[in-house]
Amino acid sequence: MWDPAVYRRYADERSRPFADLVARIGARAPRTVVDLGCGDGELTATLAERWPAATIKGIDSSPEMIAKAKILAEERDIATWRPDGEDVVVTNAALQWVPGHQELISEWMAALPDGAWFAMQVPGNFDAPSHRALRELARSEEYAIEGIRDAPVDDAAGYAARLSEIASVDAWETTYVHLLPATGPDHPVLSWMEGTALRPVKAALDDTRWQAFRASLGRRLAEVYPARSGHVAFPFRRIFVVAHKGE
Ligand SMILES: C[S@@+](CC[C@H](N)C(=O)[O-])C[C@H]1O[C@@H](n2cnc3c(N)ncnc32)[C@H](O)[C@@H]1O
Repeated sequence: MWDPAVYRRYADERSRPFADLVARIGARAPRTVVDLGCGDGELTATLAERWPAATIKGIDSSPEMIAKAKILAEERDIATWRPDGEDVVVTNAALQWVPGHQELISEWMAALPDGAWFAMQVPGNFDAPSHRALRELARSEEYAIEGIRDAPVDDAAGYAARLSEIASVDAWETTYVHLLPATGPDHPVLSWMEGTALRPVKAALDDTRWQAFRASLGRRLAEVYPARSGHVAFPFRRIFVVAHKGE
């Protein structure tokens, strides 16, 4: 289950990659735009400011997120979505949750009309100390949680190689160094991860074990991300791909 309020704890930090992604889409006057995995629709709504004449729609599989959305949004799994003549497809911080998305994006690109734009951003931090600590603890004898994957995404070069067979591709990686205030009772990286990567762990444990897990992970995170001058520096690598299908 997604908790929109927990996800929005770091809304400013999470919005910047979306803006950086969308800035590289060259569409001037698209008629139809879709945001796959739109979440609560806050960022999707900014697309209407850029393209006021476009019909803009989001899809997301979380009823909790869709309930918050103030945009045209449909509850639906990305894996079942297929292009229907859209001029722009955006997907931000969602495809890492969709197994097999690499094959899907090739299919989508082939099915989109000439002139269409496809823009995706996924986290590329699965090898960061935060995620290594999460995996170690989740796979430890004490918790033995199944289904925690090493890296559900490719690197930017991998996506570029795949899509450049069909489209002009602009692919890059950026590491944002988020300076998270260390003011609350929890370590801020723990607080960040609770909104996303820790969701499957929480879902796998009862409340007592979940509280023990988060306390233990919090101690590990405090060792690798120490607070300095009231902040914790949290480097976060992200992978971007913008593909334009020739006319
Ligand atoms: C990290 S949030 C990103 C939300 C939004 N794109 C943003 O950037 O703020 C990931 C979103 O992807 C959605 N999601 C995950 N797997 C999905 C799937 N298979 N189909 C549709 N939505 C999915 C979740 O419900 C969640 O709202």
